[in-house]
Amino acid sequence: MATDAKPAPPLTMDRPEIDPHDFRTALGNFVTGVTVITTRGADGTLAGMTANSFNSVSLDPPLIVWSISMFAPSLAAFRENNYFAVHVLAADQTQLSNQFARPSENKFADLEVEEGLGGIPLLDGVTARFECRNEYNYYGGDHVVMIGRVERYHHWHKKPLVFHRGRYCALVD
Ligand SMILES: Cc1cc2nc3c(=O)[nH]c(=O)nc-3n(C[C@H](O)[C@H](O)[C@H](O)COP(=O)(O)O)c2cc1C
Repeated sequence: MATDAKPAPPLTMDRPEIDPHDFRTALGNFVTGVTVITTRGADGTLAGMTANSFNSVSLDPPLIVWSISMFAPSLAAFRENNYFAVHVLAADQTQLSNQFARPSENKFADLEVEEGLGGIPLLDGVTARFECRNEYNYYGGDHVVMIGRVERYHHWHKKPLVFHRGRYCALVD
């Protein structure tokens, strides 16, 4: 189980002059890739969600970061397993991104899945995949920040899916 670094602060907006909707729009100007992050719950149920909060943290040791909403139905599964896998999506994987961006009990139904570390589901056709041990969890407002230690990774030469201002985009050289 990951180490919890801080207790959860109260879930209140301490800057009432900041409109959450406008704040989200401002943040959307930061261009990101798109990932699907997967794990397996204690009862064996597969869980996964689209996330663009992924980033690198450290090369040595190899650490990455992402954050998950406190209200995400998948959070319990991520807290239960010591491992998760980050899949960096390819340009042709918009449909996969949409499939993992809304609550569903059946996200994996039509997908071929390999088994990774800790029994986590691994997806194909991506540009990079990182199998991580869930090392530290920090409470950050309405999200839990997860830091993973990369234990195994692969990457392929494919164009990435890009996200900007709430829309999928293509990368132009
Ligand atoms: C491009 C994109 C990026 C997203 N990034 C995140 C993220 O970093 N963290 C998060 O908690 N939700 C993020 N979401 C929303 C989740 O994918 C969505 O709430 C999903 O339903 C969560 O899975 P769950 O319902 O199985 O818990 C993102 C959605 C999209 C479309």
